[in-house]
Amino acid sequence: MYEHDVLVVGAGGAGLRAAIAAHEEGADVAMVTKLHPVRSHTGAAEGGINAALRDGDDWELHAYDTMKGSDYLGDAPAIETLATDSPEEVVQLEHWGMPFSREDDGRMSQRPFGGLSFPRTTYAGAETGHHLLHTLYEQVVKRGIKVYDEWYVSRLAVTDHDRPEDRVCHGLVAIDIKSGDIEGFRARNGVVLATGGPGQVYDHTTNAVSCTGDGPAMAYRAGAPMEDMEFIQFHPTTLPSTGVLISEGVRGEGGILYNALGERFMFERGYANNDGELASRDVVSRAELTEVNEGRGVNDEYVHLDMRHLGADRIVDRLENILHLAADFEGVDGLEEPMPVKPGQHYAMGGTETDEHGETCISGLYAVGECACASVHGANRLGGNALPELIVFGKRAGQHAAGRDLGEAQIGTGQVGEYEIGEVETPVTPGEVGSPDDVVADGGESARTDGAGALVEAGAVLEDAVETERARVAHLMGRDEGVQQAEIRAMLQKSMTRYVNVFRNEEGLKQALRDIRTARELYRDVYVDDPSRTFNTDLIQTIETRNLIDTAEAIALGALAREEFRGAHWRQEFQERDDENWLKHTLLSWNDGTPEVWYRPVHLEGREKEYEPKIRSY
Ligand code: FUM
Repeated sequence: MYEHDVLVVGAGGAGLRAAIAAHEEGADVAMVTKLHPVRSHTGAAEGGINAALRDGDDWELHAYDTMKGSDYLGDAPAIETLATDSPEEVVQLEHWGMPFSREDDGRMSQRPFGGLSFPRTTYAGAETGHHLLHTLYEQVVKRGIKVYDEWYVSRLAVTDHDRPEDRVCHGLVAIDIKSGDIEGFRARNGVVLATGGPGQVYDHTTNAVSCTGDGPAMAYRAGAPMEDMEFIQFHPTTLPSTGVLISEGVRGEGGILYNALGERFMFERGYANNDGELASRDVVSRAELTEVNEGRGVNDEYVHLDMRHLGADRIVDRLENILHLAADFEGVDGLEEPMPVKPGQHYAMGGTETDEHGETCISGLYAVGECACASVHGANRLGGNALPELIVFGKRAGQHAAGRDLGEAQIGTGQVGEYEIGEVETPVTPGEVGSPDDVVADGGESARTDGAGALVEAGAVLEDAVETERARVAHLMGRDEGVQQAEIRAMLQKSMTRYVNVFRNEEGLKQALRDIRTARELYRDVYVDDPSRTFNTDLIQTIETRNLIDTAEAIALGALAREEFRGAHWRQEFQERDDENWLKHTLLSWNDGTPEVWYRPVHLEGREKEYEPKIRSY
């Protein structure tokens, strides 16, 4: 067994920032990550980091833009924290040596991005995430923070009290991908989940294959609810053949979208008469798909993004990476031709429910970055707001987990305070079809003990979790026939992409839930074809697939339940935002395998002012 004060799971931007902060508080911190840190998906972030750095801009404008972008489903305390803390954090990155693009006078460059009232997106070419990741990793190396890389965390060690709010996280169980060993890691203070998004739930996504929703799914099964999962962002400019991202920075620099008729449709067809291509992402994605659905798409599939008029010098200076991506993946020379683009899954606004310190309702369990929902993005994230979230909330969670007093959190977690239970008519029963843990228990090998307070001492909880996990893996590896995870994953991705996309309707969402049920049934018979102990990616992907199933179900269930149109969630039957009934967060509790939907009001009250929901137009 390994033991540290703070364990950070995942080593992208949020995890690295959390680890640095915990270390600065004097904690013995270690990172446990399935990838080497610099292979984390943060490295794929292109466009930039929003921070109010310049004269004429201020945190209040940033907060207002973010609240409007969220379609009034963000929580004001968290949004204000993001806006006030991001300038200091960006300057900190600069001091750590991040190579930001610069103006001739030496100031860090900033560009316009969608939904912003001021050009506050600070960038490093069109590979901002890559530089951020390397800058933070250098700081981790410099501090000698222990990194267990290529260790896959597959279970949390949490006490089994009846109420999640009474539970405590004592550590985790991880598989050493290099040797196949399964070991326990005790966390004396806390575990910080920073595992990234669940993009692999979809088959057309900008997300890496590693983005499998591991953190939220593990935390969910341990008792921490998922929040606002129905809000999935579809980025308007992804390459049709692969889903590779073409940064919003192209439109920020002046790139123009055209339909097959050569119309600048964002203006000419009235989708966003003021901001055009720089409307919020949900608006632009719906516009593009409407063009395609009404027969004005190129090859009935995509639209064109043209940057030729910007000139070669400017493109090479600020967007060189985009030229390589378009050439390598689409065979298009962006200096000579428009690029084909279409909406693709890009980001999950929802995740594990946390307060502004990153803490979940389970004591000692934190979540930060895309895997978390601190409620800064609400129903739609603004481009350039993901990276500041990583560093602002990563730092806070790291500090808090290490024991620093950050004051009382303004936003509660768990089923405490005001909440209501939701009623959703589902075509099939959601939740486990007999969990793999049950399968293990049937074999009589599990040391798992049920009942409130049966296992309270950290060592015993951890030992139990390790034994359960060893038995589960032995069970998966012990079969020599069944269904392969790739088949289940492909079926799930196809269904989610077809039915839980930009445009949604009741019948489609119900079909997705039926398909997810089928995936669960198939998963009962899942088997690992590769018998090796070392680098068994088949085993790892089999475990990830269970996480994808739970995450997909949360997305589809939340989407079916929410009978309104807000931000990225459009419903054919309900084409208006309904503040009277739906100004509330969706929460989903695992509830021992029988998911329960419940709601909590949005916090629109900031430090000094209340954000009044307004008509959202761009
Ligand atoms: O378009 C982009 O460069 C993506 C930025 C973001 O998602 O924040």
